[in-house]
Amino acid sequence: MSDEILLSARDIRRDFGVSGGFGKPKRIVQAVRGVSLDVKRGGVLGIVGESGCGKSTLAKILLGLDEPTAGEVLFQGRSMAAMSRKQRATHIQPIFQDPYLSLNPRKRVETIIGLPLRVAGLPEREIRKRVYEMMDLTGLPTRLAGAFPSQMSGGQRQRVAIARALIARPELVVCDEPTSALDVSIQAQILNLLQDLRRELGLTYILISHNLAVVEHIATEVMVMNRGEVVEHRATAELFAAPQSDYTRMLLASILTPEPGKGLPDISATAA
Ligand SMILES: Nc1ncnc2c1ncn2[C@@H]1O[C@H](COP(=O)(O)OP(=O)(O)O)[C@@H](O)[C@H]1O
Ligand SMILES: [Mg+2]
Repeated sequence: MSDEILLSARDIRRDFGVSGGFGKPKRIVQAVRGVSLDVKRGGVLGIVGESGCGKSTLAKILLGLDEPTAGEVLFQGRSMAAMSRKQRATHIQPIFQDPYLSLNPRKRVETIIGLPLRVAGLPEREIRKRVYEMMDLTGLPTRLAGAFPSQMSGGQRQRVAIARALIARPELVVCDEPTSALDVSIQAQILNLLQDLRRELGLTYILISHNLAVVEHIATEVMVMNRGEVVEHRATAELFAAPQSDYTRMLLASILTPEPGKGLPDISATAA
């Protein structure tokens, strides 16, 4: 990991106005409340916190898919707001939770994976070659090139989403709950794949999860969020060895599932 800051967010806020119901005034939901972070090139920043704490809202803002109410995002020191959508897409790509929702059901795998290169205007022959390379890298058998998403398993669909995200060689990949929709047996395979690809392609990740166990082995740093705010942000090993906040301790405890009939796990060992 280098000391170069690839992406930097300064005091990001995002308010949503939601209807209070019949005859009631609008209510403001403060989804993200003043988050700042730096992402180092070559690192993996894990962002964890319970459902509803603002992780996805923050992710969309970092990706340039949503605008903050206040604050700014800089990519290599340049304001993301000043970049075109196409420019942003050359630097940052998303991988979302549910590959089925993010893949066009009417397109074949080959077309889906090649889309970013088609947008960039590469010749078809070159696109085809790179699609096959990417399928190989992501562990997709080439016989699936002509398949539709509905003909594939959840794990294969997530591999397609990963191949599409990486084919145009972005520097930063924002993975928002990339394994949460998958069977437990498949989750580790996809996490290992993401890890291998990062090394091979020299990528930087932001890895978002509600589950600390998911980020433990991959993240170099972990940022814990609660109710739209940063609770703790430290090197992964330090955070797991000695969590500083009660909130982090609680999250750590919740990854230890008690064995049936054996009562609650002893969490003192983790909290120590
Ligand atoms: N488009 C929206 N309109 C209104 N409220 C929203 C919208 N998106 C998210 N929220 C609210 O913002 C909060 C954070 O949501 P989200 O970022 O999805 O959390 P997480 O990804 O951590 O589960 C929640 O209270 C959610 O209901
Ligand atoms: Mg979310």
